[in-house]
Amino acid sequence: MSTTTDRHDVHAGAPAGEPLLRAADLVAGYLPGVNILNGCNLDVHEGELVGIIGPNGAGKSTLLKALFGLVKVRSGAVTLAGEDITNHRADSLVRRGVGFVPQNNNVFPSLTIEENLQMGAFQAPSKFTERFEAIVDIFPALGERRRQRAGSLSGGERQMVAMARALMMDPQVLLLDEPSAGLSPVRQDEAFIRTRKINKAGVSVVIVEQNARRCLQICDRAYVLDQGANAYSGPGRQLMHDPKVIELYLGTLAEDVADAEAEQDAQRGQETPES
Ligand SMILES: Nc1ncnc2c1ncn2[C@@H]1O[C@H](COP(=O)(O)OP(=O)(O)OP(=O)(O)O)[C@@H](O)[C@H]1O
Ligand SMILES: [Mg+2]
Repeated sequence: MSTTTDRHDVHAGAPAGEPLLRAADLVAGYLPGVNILNGCNLDVHEGELVGIIGPNGAGKSTLLKALFGLVKVRSGAVTLAGEDITNHRADSLVRRGVGFVPQNNNVFPSLTIEENLQMGAFQAPSKFTERFEAIVDIFPALGERRRQRAGSLSGGERQMVAMARALMMDPQVLLLDEPSAGLSPVRQDEAFIRTRKINKAGVSVVIVEQNARRCLQICDRAYVLDQGANAYSGPGRQLMHDPKVIELYLGTLAEDVADAEAEQDAQRGQETPES
């Protein structure tokens, strides 16, 4: 029987047809001789919201950077609507409809909100007014505060500006690296709701998330990466209830911190003989 988490059916649950964005057997890394991605596969179909989860250091950010031409792909291929875009430069990818929001340093702090968004549209300045209006529809707060410097915004507000800037070029597909990182629980929920809203507005989305449960709740499909390779994949809600995925990647929350502490102490007691 094949399950949604069958290691061999890496695109389980994906719609039929050619994906909008495809990463096939990607091998990539930073230092000579050290591969961080060891044959990664990812498909995003038009209109999909696709999640990437996995432990720290698994290569999630590296995968997004490899898709966006920021890390050299050593073998394998990235295609956009069937055309090869492997190792294409980020600026040419932006022109072709790929947007990327990195986790950190994603706004120009000394510029105002409006100027940040102008930077997002620098390849098509004549579109600024039209796009600005469309984006203020999704993020009303940005319109009201357009003259405020981005450096004076909270983490959640900066994340909003960064997403809005990537949307200025009207991308077909948006790559988001941990949009909820560093935010309070309420702001995290807002980041997920915003991501969904962008997707519902017709943008295909790839979202990398540390908050794996929330990510699986909102995405159509997800890939679990481990050590630079695909570990599990399938529809988000199915992965969320898969006992193996829970055990290895989601964890079961102890009822109480004190219970978890007691359990750890008990384990430690078994490991270390009396001294
Ligand atoms: N610029 C770099 N130069 C060299 N090695 C790097 C660089 N960036 C990341 N790495 C290494 O690549 C590996 C994967 O990192 P990556 O940032 O892709 O992981 P991640 O899954 O996004 O982790 P996290 O959940 O912590 O964000 C790590 O071992 C990291 O040390
Ligand atoms: Mg990362």
